[in-house]
Amino acid sequence: METNLTSQRKKDHIDLAFLSQTVERDTRFYYEPFLSAHPLNESIPKTVIAGKTLSMPLWISSMTGGTEKAGIINKNLAKACREFGMGIGLGSCRIILTDNAYLGDFNIRKYLGDDLPLFANLGIAQVEELLEKNKLELIGELIRKVEADGLIIHVNPLQEWLQPEGDLIRFSPIDTIKRLLDKVDVKIIVKEVGQGFGPRSFRELFQLPVEAIEFGAHGGTNFSALELHRQEEQTKNQLEPLAMIGHSATEMMDYANQALDELGSRALCRNIIASGGVKNFLDGYYLIRTSKANSVYAQASAFLKHATGEYEQLKTYCELQRKGLQTCYQYLEIKTA
Ligand SMILES: Cc1cc2nc3c(=O)[nH]c(=O)nc-3n(C[C@H](O)[C@H](O)[C@H](O)COP(=O)(O)O)c2cc1C
Repeated sequence: METNLTSQRKKDHIDLAFLSQTVERDTRFYYEPFLSAHPLNESIPKTVIAGKTLSMPLWISSMTGGTEKAGIINKNLAKACREFGMGIGLGSCRIILTDNAYLGDFNIRKYLGDDLPLFANLGIAQVEELLEKNKLELIGELIRKVEADGLIIHVNPLQEWLQPEGDLIRFSPIDTIKRLLDKVDVKIIVKEVGQGFGPRSFRELFQLPVEAIEFGAHGGTNFSALELHRQEEQTKNQLEPLAMIGHSATEMMDYANQALDELGSRALCRNIIASGGVKNFLDGYYLIRTSKANSVYAQASAFLKHATGEYEQLKTYCELQRKGLQTCYQYLEIKTA
């Protein structure tokens, strides 16, 4: 039996050798094969976000709710978080702020368990409105309803501006977030939705007592492009250049590190969720290891791709992600500039 297997493997090697010529090389890392044994589960360090411990430094970025498929997607994502020790942000919970008809789509604590972070999600425009109407108690109610650890606020002015039915943002988001922090005792995470943001925004945000800053960087799912696809041809063609602006996650990590260096002890936020266009575990590992803050990386669309059907498909995706990360922690070091 063993002889047959070996002989088949040798045949495969000969057949596949010409198909396996290297075309590209990832030059971001030193690969050190002489210094470590094969990785074990413990090779991935644990990370704490919102006082809860993640076994993988991986977060599922906020996605959907309130549509037919959302319930099954969210359930699959929550099960994966529990099995692999990851954190998750819900998609916008606006639809359940005052009406419980779709609460079932968002009610995933029962699949996730109590030990992992779960955050509700609202847009900056809704937070503005709640502040203006003196209805901040709805935020506390929302968090209780979905048994979340806190609230993610998505700041998406470009998306809203390009969306035909988009909300108008009437104040600077940083002021709105400050006003909210003054009035509620809730853990807050802030994020963009696929455009990222620049160094001045980082400097302001790090000085706020927010739980984490999530990048939502440019380079993956792009909601400005998405909204333009929903428009007439002329609008799409003329405004399309706006979808090209923004900042990649790598660029944003540089801004974040510079801001942390400059601010020193004035930086009140010390956690980063590096997301947006993170293609795989190598990108994620690179971001985490170049960060000067406590960091995890996150993906949205990559998880979504595997979350719409059977749980097993998502489980396989997560297992391979973990195997990749174990390899990184055991064998790869970041090349410094
Ligand atoms: C289907 C879908 C729905 C999303 N809905 C939300 C949302 O409700 N709130 C939010 O903050 N971000 C939302 N996002 C943005 C993601 O959280 C993330 O910032 C963005 O997709 C970039 O990550 P990616 O390149 O890994 O997809 C959504 C993304 C997708 C793909």
